[in-house]
Amino acid sequence: MHDHALAEQSDALRLRSLDDLNRLRKQILDKRDPDQPEIVVCHGTGCLANGSADVSAAIRSALDTSGIEAKVVPGIKTTGCQGFCSHGPLVVIRPRGIFYQKVKPKDAKEIIEKTIVQGDVVKRLLYKNPTDGEKILHEQDIPFYKRQTRVVLHNIGKIDPTDISDTIASGGYQALAKALTTMTPEQVVQEIETSGLRGRGGAGFPTGRKWRSALTAIEKKGRPVYVVVNGDEGDPGAFMDRTIMEGDPHAVLEGLILGAYALGANQGYLYVRAEYPLAIKHLTIAMEQARACGLLGDNILNSGFSFDARINRGAGAFVCGESTALFTSIEGNPGNPRPKYVRSVEEGLWGRPTVLNNVETWANIPLIVNKGGDWYAKIGVPHSTGTKVFSLVGKVNNVGLVEVPMGVPLSTIVEDIGGGVPGGAPFKAVQTGGPSGGCIPYELKDTPVDFDSLTKAGSMMGSGAMIVMDNRDCVVDVGRYFLRFLEEESCGKCMPCRLGLSRMREILDNFSEGKGSEKDIEDLLSLSKAIQDSALCALGSSAPNPVLTTLKYFKDEYLAHVTRQKCPAGVCKNLITYSIDPELCTGCTSCAKQCPVGCIEGEKKKTHAIDTGLCIRCGICMDTCKFNAVNVI
Ligand SMILES: Cc1cc2nc3c(=O)[nH]c(=O)nc-3n(C[C@H](O)[C@H](O)[C@H](O)COP(=O)(O)O)c2cc1C
Ligand code: SF4
Ligand code: SF4
Ligand code: SF4
Ligand code: FES
Repeated sequence: MHDHALAEQSDALRLRSLDDLNRLRKQILDKRDPDQPEIVVCHGTGCLANGSADVSAAIRSALDTSGIEAKVVPGIKTTGCQGFCSHGPLVVIRPRGIFYQKVKPKDAKEIIEKTIVQGDVVKRLLYKNPTDGEKILHEQDIPFYKRQTRVVLHNIGKIDPTDISDTIASGGYQALAKALTTMTPEQVVQEIETSGLRGRGGAGFPTGRKWRSALTAIEKKGRPVYVVVNGDEGDPGAFMDRTIMEGDPHAVLEGLILGAYALGANQGYLYVRAEYPLAIKHLTIAMEQARACGLLGDNILNSGFSFDARINRGAGAFVCGESTALFTSIEGNPGNPRPKYVRSVEEGLWGRPTVLNNVETWANIPLIVNKGGDWYAKIGVPHSTGTKVFSLVGKVNNVGLVEVPMGVPLSTIVEDIGGGVPGGAPFKAVQTGGPSGGCIPYELKDTPVDFDSLTKAGSMMGSGAMIVMDNRDCVVDVGRYFLRFLEEESCGKCMPCRLGLSRMREILDNFSEGKGSEKDIEDLLSLSKAIQDSALCALGSSAPNPVLTTLKYFKDEYLAHVTRQKCPAGVCKNLITYSIDPELCTGCTSCAKQCPVGCIEGEKKKTHAIDTGLCIRCGICMDTCKFNAVNVI
C-alpha cells in the first residue's frame, strides 16, 4: 500500500475522543449476535506445541464441508493460553461454555456435527474430574477454574489478541480514555497509590510509591522520563508474563500508556526476551493497531498527550531482567548490572528518571484506573492487594496458569486448583520465587501466599513460578540445580557471585556423591551469608535462598547425604541402589525388557533380580513396574 493510502486509512480509523471509542465499541458489539455459536481454540504456546493450529485448521475445513446454514455458521476464534495447559489443546464452544480438552484434528468433524449442528455433546472430549470420575460439561465448573479469580487474565481465552476490535469490545482502552478525558496525571498516580499494588516482578515494591519517587526525581531533573516494561521473564518454570503478552497485549500497552500519562513520559520500551517470538509478534501487532486507532503515538485521542513505544529484544540472559542490566542492554551495551548508588527512578535509562515495571504490574494498571484504587485494595490481603498470576509446574496434576487473590493458602493453589501430586501423595515442598526464592515444605501448606508471609517462611513471591516437588525430588539436587543455573547466568562482574556460587555448587556436588561432611554444611551457611552481604546485584545476593530454605526445612536429608551416604529421595546416583521386592514382583518381565543395560534377570512369572554391579541407576525399571516391586534405597 502507498504511504498516502496508508495515511488515509489510518486517518479513517483514528479515534479522536472517548465518544469515538464508545461509538466504535457499540458498532462492534451491535454487529455481534450473542447467541451465535463461537468455537474458541487455544493458540497459546503450550496448545500450539500440542498441535492446536492443526485443530483449528481441521475445524475450519469441517465447517466448510458441513453444509451448515449461513445464519448458524459459528465463528472461529483463536486465543492466548487459557491456563489449563496440561489438558490442551483446548476448544470451548461459546456461549454455552462447553469445554473440550485434549482435542485432536480428527475430532473436528464430530464437534461440528454433534455440538454445532445437533446441539449435543461429544462426551469423550469432556474433562473427567479425577476425584469422582464425573465428566464436567462447563468450563466454569472445572475445579481448576472454579477456585480462581481471573482479574488480570479476565480477557485471555476470550479475545483474539491480534484483533483490536475484540479488545475494544471487551472494554479495552476505556481506562486510557477515562484518564485522558477526566483525570489529571496526579489523580492517576493517586489511584495507583490507593490500590496498594505492589510490583509483580519479584521484590514487591509498591508501584504507587515508585511512581511518586519518579515524580520527585522529575521535579529535580526535569524531563525526559521513560517508562519501561520488563518482559524478560527468565525464571525456570515461569510463563505468566509470556502468557499475558501473548494473550492480552493491549492490556500491557494500555497500562504503559497510562503510566506514561501519569509521569509525563513520551517514550517507552518493552524489553522482551527473543525466545518469546509469539509475545513479540502479538505486541507488535497490538502497537500497530493502537497507532492506527489513535491510541498510541501523536496526540492520543486528541488529548494533546503524545506517547510512543518500541520493543527491545533481550538475548535471553537471566541477569538482563535485573533493572540496571536491562537498561544497559536497551542502551545497546552488554546487559551487565551496574552499582545502584542512585535509584533507577532518578537515574535509569540514559541516566534519566525511569519507571520500570513488570508485565503483570502494567497489566493491572487499566483495571485500577477503570474500577478505582479502592476496588482493587479490597481484593487480597491488606499489605498484598489484588490477585497474583502463578505458573504451576513440576509434580502436579494440573500444570498451567493460575490467578488467585493474594493471601490464599498455598494448599489451595497446589491441591485444590493444581489437583495435587500425581498418585495422590502429599507434596514434599513448593519452590516459590524461582532461583531467588525458596522451598516451602508441606508442613507449611497453609501459609498464605502473599509477599510478607512468603518472606517470613524464608522464600519470596518472586515473579510467580511455583515448582511442586514430591518425595522423589531430592533437596540437595534441587539446590544444585538452581546454583548451577545461576552460576551459568552470573555475569561474572563481582567476585562473591562469580566464585562463591561455584564453591557452593561444588560442595553440593560432593554431597550428591556422598563426599561431604557436617563442616561443609557450616561452610555453606557462611558462604551464603558472605554472598548475600557483598554481591553487586540481587542475582548474587538472593542466589543462596534455595539452599538456605532447604537446609532450614530438610536438614535431615542433607545429613543423610553427608553422614550416611544415602539419598532418601533416591535421586543422587552415587548413593542409591535399586532392588526388586520378591513379595511384590509378579515376573511380568516388563522391567527386564526396558533395562538399557540388560542387568535384570528372571524367568516369566518368576521373581526378577537386579545385578547391582552392572546397574547404571537410570530408574527406568522403577517407572516401568506396575506392581511397585522396584525399590530404591
Ligand atoms: C537477576 C534478576 C532478574 C530479574 N528478572 C526479572 C524479570 O524477568 N522480570 C521482571 O519483571 N523483573 C525481574 N527482576 C526484577 C527487576 O529488577 C525489577 O525489580 C522489576 O522489573 C520491577 O518491576 P515491578 O516493580 O513491577 O516488580 C529481576 C531481578 C533480578 C535481580
Ligand atoms: S551478583 Fe553476579 S550477576 Fe550480579 S553483578 Fe555480581 S557477578 Fe554479575
Ligand atoms: S516390572 Fe515389576 S513385577 Fe514385572 S518383573 Fe519387573 S519388578 Fe517384577
Ligand atoms: S535402574 Fe536402570 S540400569 Fe538399573 S536395573 Fe533399573 S533399568 Fe536397569
Ligand atoms: S496454551 Fe492452551 S491452555 Fe495454556
